[in-house]
Amino acid sequence: MRILLLGKHGQLGWELQQTLPYLGEVVALSRAEADLAQTDSLRDVLNELAWDALVNAAAYTAVDRAETEADAARQVNSNAPRIMAEEAKKRNALFLHFSTDYVFDGLKSEPYCETDTPNPSGIYARTKLEGERAIQDIGGLNFIFRTSWVYSMTHKDNFVAKVIQWASRQSELRAVTDQTACPTWARALAELTSLALFRIMQMGGSWASEHCGMYHIASADFVNRYELTRYIVQRLNLPVTVKPALTQEFPSPVSRPAFSALSSTRFAQTFNLRVPGWREMLDLALDASP
Ligand SMILES: NC(=O)c1ccc[n+]([C@@H]2O[C@H](COP(=O)([O-])OP(=O)(O)OC[C@H]3O[C@@H](n4cnc5c(N)ncnc54)[C@H](OP(=O)(O)O)[C@@H]3O)[C@@H](O)[C@H]2O)c1
Repeated sequence: MRILLLGKHGQLGWELQQTLPYLGEVVALSRAEADLAQTDSLRDVLNELAWDALVNAAAYTAVDRAETEADAARQVNSNAPRIMAEEAKKRNALFLHFSTDYVFDGLKSEPYCETDTPNPSGIYARTKLEGERAIQDIGGLNFIFRTSWVYSMTHKDNFVAKVIQWASRQSELRAVTDQTACPTWARALAELTSLALFRIMQMGGSWASEHCGMYHIASADFVNRYELTRYIVQRLNLPVTVKPALTQEFPSPVSRPAFSALSSTRFAQTFNLRVPGWREMLDLALDASP
């Protein structure tokens, strides 16, 4: 199995570089080597290399900035995945792609399933949904994994790392009680993705064509940002107090869903895997951090 990984410097891409090599020979590319914003050169790169599976961990993920850079977000999150799906289909290869809980409007009170209807707010979420739909329209051996609140201990631009940074500078933190989702450790997501790919490879092409489609992979339970912050502070004995706040107190160009927890049941059952809860993932991540 020759695996082509895009987005190798991202939170998830970095972790996939550690987990995928056990399944086959991996060629991992950065933005400099495969720019998703350049349609023609992306197609050239995909055509020039030999691969049996394409794993796309690259995305335009700047949720607020996307509001003023809609074309760039659409190119990376929607047009580029369409090209990848086309090229994967041409060579009957597997294509693994990632999407977001933000495709949902957050009005539900229990975790979203794959069959729930998306209703995104904002450019980032809309372009990610367009990407999902472009891939589904093309068809082929595509697996789309929606995930949620990804964090990593090797990257700084995520909520968990920011709480730790803020706590080193402030004596009081305020975190919102009205945003709830499934915080997901990038390494756990990479491991679950790789285990799923292993199963797809073992089961063969007809199993893949029967089981391809949309799956949710996120921590098995949910939490709001206030409780998540309190847990991090307690777990690390950080000398700060945490006060509850509301989203409206932090002005932002785009609204986030109030409740975007994902149910990973379909993924766990299909791939015969256990998805840990958010505390278990976070404990592992904090213990693993230098
Ligand atoms: N982060 C979250 O909370 C979250 C939540 C739900 C879903 N997701 C989804 O999960 C997946 C992985 O997210 P992540 O957290 O690992 O994202 P990330 O850390 O922001 O990494 C994204 C990667 O995409 C690359 N990229 C951006 N524009 C590119 C372009 N034009 N050409 C090539 N590469 C480009 C970036 O390259 P540079 O390193 O050069 O910037 C970066 O390496 C994405 O599909 C994302 O939408 C993330």
